[in-house]
Amino acid sequence: MNFFELSQSIISNALAVLFPEKKFNTTVEISLTKDDKFGDFQSNVAFKIAKDVGLAPSVLAQKIVHHFDSNLPLTFSVAGAGFINITIKEEALLQAAEHLPKFFSEKKHQGEKIIVEYSSPNVAKELHVGHLRSTIIGDALANCFESVGYDVLRLNHVGDWGTAFGMLIAYIKRHRLDYNNTNLSLSTLMEWYQQSKVEFDNSPEVYEDSKKEVVALQQGDPENLKIWQILCSISEQGYQKIYDALSIEGLHVRGESFYNPYLPKVIEDFKEKSLLTYSDGAACVFLEGFKNRENQPLPLIIQKADGGYNYATTDLASVRYRIFEDRALRIYYVTDNGQRDHFSMIFAAAEKVGYASKDQLIHVPFGIVQDEFKKRFKTRSGGVIKLQDLLDEAYQRAHSIATERHLSNPDHFAKVVGYGALKYADLSSNRIMDYVFDFDRMLAFEGNTIVYLLYSYVRASSILKKADHDENKFIYPQGSLNPSERRLLIQCLLYPHTVSSVLKYANPHLLCEYLYELATRFNHFFRDCPVLNAEEKSSRLSYVILFKSVLKQGLSLLGLNTIDEM
Ligand code: ARG
Repeated sequence: MNFFELSQSIISNALAVLFPEKKFNTTVEISLTKDDKFGDFQSNVAFKIAKDVGLAPSVLAQKIVHHFDSNLPLTFSVAGAGFINITIKEEALLQAAEHLPKFFSEKKHQGEKIIVEYSSPNVAKELHVGHLRSTIIGDALANCFESVGYDVLRLNHVGDWGTAFGMLIAYIKRHRLDYNNTNLSLSTLMEWYQQSKVEFDNSPEVYEDSKKEVVALQQGDPENLKIWQILCSISEQGYQKIYDALSIEGLHVRGESFYNPYLPKVIEDFKEKSLLTYSDGAACVFLEGFKNRENQPLPLIIQKADGGYNYATTDLASVRYRIFEDRALRIYYVTDNGQRDHFSMIFAAAEKVGYASKDQLIHVPFGIVQDEFKKRFKTRSGGVIKLQDLLDEAYQRAHSIATERHLSNPDHFAKVVGYGALKYADLSSNRIMDYVFDFDRMLAFEGNTIVYLLYSYVRASSILKKADHDENKFIYPQGSLNPSERRLLIQCLLYPHTVSSVLKYANPHLLCEYLYELATRFNHFFRDCPVLNAEEKSSRLSYVILFKSVLKQGLSLLGLNTIDEM
């Protein structure tokens, strides 16, 4: 049973009965209490609507509470100036515990297909920390959706087409670079890219040359196509190394070029619906509500004057394909905040032309990665940080921790904890906010870190090992619960509700917050309740099992592995 939602609906129903003529435009919020003397949950709804109904919050809260009968699994009382405290009845709690393991295998959304698009780096260009964020957040969301039964298509919308290739191909030809060399790596390509850009920006001749090469590529020139394919495949191998380290699985590359055959159809569709306006030869779509800085209507250009297509055309073609061919119910786009306006326009245009309704298209934006001085995270010389360097440092630091602690497998520890720290630090910050990159903090034993969570996990494992209990065999709490047991159990039971919230807000940090609170409550339980030598050993063990399985499940949704020693 979901006690959170139950509390919410009981209070909402009471309000509807008490004030039938009122329509409240606030949702009933329920939060966890910090101290058991305020019950298990609390609601501040009386404060929010007191004015509206002309009653003091405390009077209103009393009225609401008196409305409930005693058959409910919850008891309600009023505290302070009008808080409603909610306490779950013990027998209801014990019953609910037995249902929790079932949730792990319950697939409510079977047969519902969705797409999560993430990572999406650009060929031969730097894979920057923003792409790292997209990869980590996207993977976690996709896992969460899958866990409740969704059929999730994970797409990597690699930037593998466009003018940059004309520039690179021209550069390769001009300098007679050996693009067939099997030792070519992504970092060489990045150097070529940077060099070619300098020449492109500074020489009109190079500029013209590059334009010619891109046209030749688009027309299917065999040599250009070959170079392009090589560039794409080397880049892909480069990304794959990073994905492997981060345990990113099941992500399909379907680059921008995939949609090339469908681009003319996009223009036709807009034309057919009379949605195109030509301005200086470019095909524009004007959408209500979009203005430029001078407050003039802002067009979305979907075909350039020279007939070429752009980023927006590809995005529209991809919406069309994903909804009509892939038959996705919804598409989630995990990209940085900077693309917010782009996606608002794409979604509005897609709706107008009839590809999808706006609620099927969801932008999942995130803030930038910052250094300790809250500046954009860069190398000392101002360059882009190489992701491989970050992975290496995370590994090294975790490896040192393992050696200091004389662990038996420092390499395994370094991979799970080092890479895990990188991922967890990102996931545990609210994605909308900018996020400060800090190795020391992400590997600390205290605070909301992967190290803290895994430490608690190992603690639970070691109890179970000592008890010689097979943890796949669930046993359940019995008898009367003491406060630490109660708080731990309630937190375990909130797991399904937490997963729903992550999906609703497309925000994995809610799960991290939940797991942190879970581990904290477990550690309090560990402090207050002896397990192995206790009379109620079996009941106590059941908490350890429940805790460990919920934590493991939660971590796996975040794309994180566990360890056995620490
Ligand atoms: N390749 C783009 C970039 O690096 C991200 C792609 C986002 N997805 C999309 N459908 N436009 O910024």
